[in-house]
Amino acid sequence: SSPLRPSAAVSANYSEAIELADIDWDNLGFGLQPTDYMYIMKCTRDGSFSKGELKRFGNIELNPSAGVLNYGQGLFEGLKAYRKEDGNILLFRPEENALRMKMGAERMCMPSPSVEQFVEAVKDTVLANKHWIPPQGKGSLYIRPLLMGSGAVLGLAPAPEYTFLIYVSPVGNYFKEGLAPINLIVESELHRATPGGTGGVKTIGNYAAVLKAQSAAKAKGYSDVLYLDCVHKRYLEEVSSCNIFVVKGNIISTPAIKGTILPGITRKSIIDVARSQGFQVEERLVSVEELLEADEVFCTGTAVVVSPVGSVTYLGQKKSYGDGIGVVSQQLYTVLTRLQMGLAKDDMNWTVEL
Ligand code: COI
Repeated sequence: SSPLRPSAAVSANYSEAIELADIDWDNLGFGLQPTDYMYIMKCTRDGSFSKGELKRFGNIELNPSAGVLNYGQGLFEGLKAYRKEDGNILLFRPEENALRMKMGAERMCMPSPSVEQFVEAVKDTVLANKHWIPPQGKGSLYIRPLLMGSGAVLGLAPAPEYTFLIYVSPVGNYFKEGLAPINLIVESELHRATPGGTGGVKTIGNYAAVLKAQSAAKAKGYSDVLYLDCVHKRYLEEVSSCNIFVVKGNIISTPAIKGTILPGITRKSIIDVARSQGFQVEERLVSVEELLEADEVFCTGTAVVVSPVGSVTYLGQKKSYGDGIGVVSQQLYTVLTRLQMGLAKDDMNWTVEL
């Protein structure tokens, strides 16, 4: 069936009829569902971006010598759009993604769109694909902005031209476990990031670098990998695609941002939410021993939202935290997602309504 064909099913809760794309909304995972439009904006090395445009979603052409293909000069972002009960659309903290892209672009010697250009481009892309935003409670529209060196280079140097591109896909749960706890293995040999490296920015190479450990972990039945710092091999860094939090009593601790850890927007939001809920939150070095003694552990990320950890295995020793989602993880998940879906008052002004 054509992806543009609207479904006949329209929820009675909506104040106005919304035409939804014709897919199985009850079984969304985290995979690419091609949508209608993508956004493309080009930029020269000096930083002047052309006017962006929406194009039909599809393959793009790149010179074989493009900087991104040869030297990994590229960044990505991730954010989500939610459908409210009244059918309107909410974006969650898009300016934060724009700022993080700017920071990453500076590290990777790339020009980046202004915050305003970024946010406007996200809005245009979401509105052009609004039929693909899941009904409330069934998931969200994952928005993937990319910034890449698209110009040709052969000698190692910043590319002469850049492409800012946004595509979207409706998504459900990231982990197949859903809100059921995931099982992590602590990796003590392979590392995700080094001091002075690029672990603190969202460059594409950081994600290719974790595939080997992640694949080995999955082959052994684990959900994902938790990385340690490469100097002491003792302090927690992050999971392949998300940040980590450790709960002990009323104290919630998470590794401090110091260049090797991705400054997650969900991480930052959960820290604020947890404080507003009366928890003491500490950003500091968190040792693997503390992890093994924690009451509860959870991960945060745009894709994973708040994912409870059921067990961690470190040097063959397995520590279990319980079969279900922990009370703290559940509380923080609920407060955050109610805000993101427009079910709770947004005192922080984090959501942008379209
Ligand atoms: C996100 O959570 O948005 C990410 O960028 C992680 C990605 C590997 C899905």
